[in-house]
Amino acid sequence: MSFSFDETNITKIEQLQKRYPSPKALTLPLLWMVQEQEGFISLEAMEEISKYTTRPAMEIYKTATFYTMFNLAPVGEHHIQLCKTLSCALCGKEDILAYIKKTLDIEVGQTTKDGKFTLTQVECLGSCGTAPMMQINQTNYESLTIERVEKILEELQ
Ligand code: FES
Repeated sequence: MSFSFDETNITKIEQLQKRYPSPKALTLPLLWMVQEQEGFISLEAMEEISKYTTRPAMEIYKTATFYTMFNLAPVGEHHIQLCKTLSCALCGKEDILAYIKKTLDIEVGQTTKDGKFTLTQVECLGSCGTAPMMQINQTNYESLTIERVEKILEELQ
């Protein structure tokens, strides 16, 4: 499998190169760009980022694997990231998790057979005051209840 940035992203990269004096600073923006373009970050994409950033591919790999928001394998159309940290855990995260697993018939780390949903658990997403919460793709869903999750999943089906 090979990877190359599409034309739109190449234009964006050229703009970013003017903004950042050090090509190393492009690492995180390019990782995001790959994820938006492909849905996940392949080893081939890391090698491509390595060329733009003048960093060894292993350095790109270390960065990509350090941050949990980067997908290193394909995910479903809707990537459910349920917070598992203290506030969410104290406010009922386990019930929400059990409901999602049962409804979608998947375990954490799995994708539904139709490719619609992937379920992961993540550390605090910074919405502790409205726990429990989850993020689906780029959208936060807060103050979750079973009823609210049921509605959200139905709307995304
Ligand atoms: S603990 Fe869940 S958002 Fe912070």
